[in-house]
Amino acid sequence: TMEIILAKRAGFCFGVKRATQMAFEAAGKDQKTFTLGPIIHSPQVVQKLEDMGVGVVKDLTNVSDGTVIIRSHGVLASEMEEAQRKHLEIVDATCPFVKKAQEHVKYLSEAGYDVLVVGDADHPEVEGIVSYGKDKVYVVASGEEVRKLPKMTKMAVVAQTTQSFENLKNVVDECLRRGGEVRVYNTICDATAVRQQEATELAQQVDCMIVIGGFNSANTRRLAEICSELQPRTHHIETAQELDPAWFVGVDKVGVTAGASTPKWIIDDVMERLAGINNSD
Ligand code: F3S
Repeated sequence: TMEIILAKRAGFCFGVKRATQMAFEAAGKDQKTFTLGPIIHSPQVVQKLEDMGVGVVKDLTNVSDGTVIIRSHGVLASEMEEAQRKHLEIVDATCPFVKKAQEHVKYLSEAGYDVLVVGDADHPEVEGIVSYGKDKVYVVASGEEVRKLPKMTKMAVVAQTTQSFENLKNVVDECLRRGGEVRVYNTICDATAVRQQEATELAQQVDCMIVIGGFNSANTRRLAEICSELQPRTHHIETAQELDPAWFVGVDKVGVTAGASTPKWIIDDVMERLAGINNSD
């Protein structure tokens, strides 16, 4: 029989786990419960919530009562205010790490700093973080972009939670070169880096790697890429049904990992099916 090893940090990070739990707890308490945008990047979780009566709304325009669940990567400050103004019941599942970044921007902006957010301007998490500032909040993707900014005397830097430490450092370097006051908050969350590191180690110990997660999930695809480079027998699957017994012929050890938005029940399914393949040898 082959040994089946599941990576410790496979699947949901702390913030996504917390948001999902909060959403399932809120489901069924109120006739009108919905999430503002998809709660996390998992079609299976969104579907399961929908089956429990929790739909997704894209904005609050047509909402006048009920419970609104705020997704893990946060929403715009104006959307939060609208929910309060309408006296909706708010279940705030914003990841505490994202919340920290939002709070820093709010405070620093009020204190008169020009605020730089290191990240991807189109990402909803970044749009949310930026919205907590007044004016003079700039999104920069790299150190080079700092050079194009207007003159500033008091600068503050925060980062999108998924940024690399390297990139944050490059941006801060450029800021320091400009002179003046530079205040930095490292708001990076290392969940992604840790998951990738574990997958790297596991892929080298096994002779077949299974990566579970949405084909459209960028972080799962990246995980599969990293594993394939080290272990050519790497298979990216979305569900247990896709497992092919032929993949495991002559395999002694198989490693399993999963992307950040892959629910535990899908990982459990895969583990069970793998055990089944083992027994039918
Ligand atoms: Fe997850 Fe929160 Fe980090 S959502 S990736 S724990 S910022």
